[in-house]
Amino acid sequence: MVHLLDDKVRLQHQMKSPEEILRLFDTIAVDSDWSFAEYRRSDTGKWTHGYHRYPAKFIPQLVERLIDEYLSNGAGHVNDPFYGCGTTIVTAVSRGLLASGTDINEIANLIAKVKSTPIQPDYLGRKIDQFLSRVMHVGLTERTLFDSRVEPLIPERHIEKIDYWFTEQSKIELGKLLRVISQEDDISIRDFLLVAFSHILKSCSIWLQRSTKPTRDRKKNATKAYHAMRRHLKSMQRGNEAFCDVVPAEVRDSPDKYLNLEANDARSQPVADNSVDLVVTSSPYVTSYEYADLHQLSTIWLDLADDLTEYKKQFIGTSLKKYQNKTPRSELALDVVAEMRQRSPKLAKEIEAFFVDMQEVFDESFRVLRSGGRCCYVIGDTRLKGVDILNAEAFAEALQYSGFRLDRIIKREIPSKVLPQKRDEKTGRFASRNNANSEAYPVEYIVVALKE
Ligand SMILES: C[S@@+](CC[C@H](N)C(=O)[O-])C[C@H]1O[C@@H](n2cnc3c(N)ncnc32)[C@H](O)[C@@H]1O
Repeated sequence: MVHLLDDKVRLQHQMKSPEEILRLFDTIAVDSDWSFAEYRRSDTGKWTHGYHRYPAKFIPQLVERLIDEYLSNGAGHVNDPFYGCGTTIVTAVSRGLLASGTDINEIANLIAKVKSTPIQPDYLGRKIDQFLSRVMHVGLTERTLFDSRVEPLIPERHIEKIDYWFTEQSKIELGKLLRVISQEDDISIRDFLLVAFSHILKSCSIWLQRSTKPTRDRKKNATKAYHAMRRHLKSMQRGNEAFCDVVPAEVRDSPDKYLNLEANDARSQPVADNSVDLVVTSSPYVTSYEYADLHQLSTIWLDLADDLTEYKKQFIGTSLKKYQNKTPRSELALDVVAEMRQRSPKLAKEIEAFFVDMQEVFDESFRVLRSGGRCCYVIGDTRLKGVDILNAEAFAEALQYSGFRLDRIIKREIPSKVLPQKRDEKTGRFASRNNANSEAYPVEYIVVALKE
């Protein structure tokens, strides 16, 4: 291993060397208190957490526990630079804490905003009923699910993709739902309806239901749009009601004062220096999920991106990203890249770009945290083409170069239903259990670092 830092400098700053970090990780045992294995789907999907599926999302219990441990006085500001569907954000506002963050994924932004914005339950109930009756046609003698006078709203520029994923009938019915949603004047209600719409797209399409990745199933009997929408709206309505019961009155009255969310890059947080008490986040994994592809049904129907390829390039961990003139600061990351270069120069470049990007995110966490504040990065290791990708160890080392002191490493088992456990060794992508030949993330780590 090439050492980039002098031992004296390390000691002076109480930094752990790469070897010390590797030893530390070797000796940590799984902490079963952090596996939350006893929680059922109804617990992990409580409140608004069941509004929308999202790959690799947190379970709320993990965030609750970190907040309990590190914000014990019950006040403060929580930030998540990769908020995804907003698990950290919802948890923070449910306790009356300020919540800020970013996600580059436009659909994540919509979901996170809707999930963390409580709506007065009676008003929401009336709005949902009104919406459902506007979609329907009730005549003197007959009643049809879709009013023939409603002109379907179908984003023309994505029509090829829509035809690829949807039958003609589903396309028309979804288009009618979208038209009626677009006529809603109250933005918080419109966004609520859009999240429901986005969630049902998968079951209404011919996307293989049990697959996270885009795969067609031509024999699929797609769910009828109206029924799927009504069922999901009713379930979201119950979630909102339960959320309203726990959210402090001040948040219910003015959610905007507590929320600061931006569809933006993780390296550019919408908050001032030294203003955050706790960062709780899970970063993307290198070349595992292409989030832009996974959410393409929502992206095309809600018309969220002008150019899908350019959109994808902005995602950290994507296979499209390479740098000519930047290298990671972490020695452990450099070792992984060097080893991978022997097997696949292309993949080595992607991994290198991932670690470069993540170092800049750590710098940003350091900027926004106040002194005494902590960041908690949830990350797992993996193996690609026979090379161990020591994400967690490299993160632990790299956080030090952004100015943090390594505070704690928690090793936890992953609840099997939430994260995929298998990878295809050749491509490195997540795979269904049947096709996979490599373990992906049987455990993951929470790397906790302190800004002194
Ligand atoms: C593991 S997921 C986070 C899931 C989240 N903890 C939750 O509970 O839903 C990682 C997220 O990073 C986002 N992401 C990827 N590149 C990004 C970037 N450059 N800036 C901000 N977010 C990004 C992805 O869209 C994805 O939502």
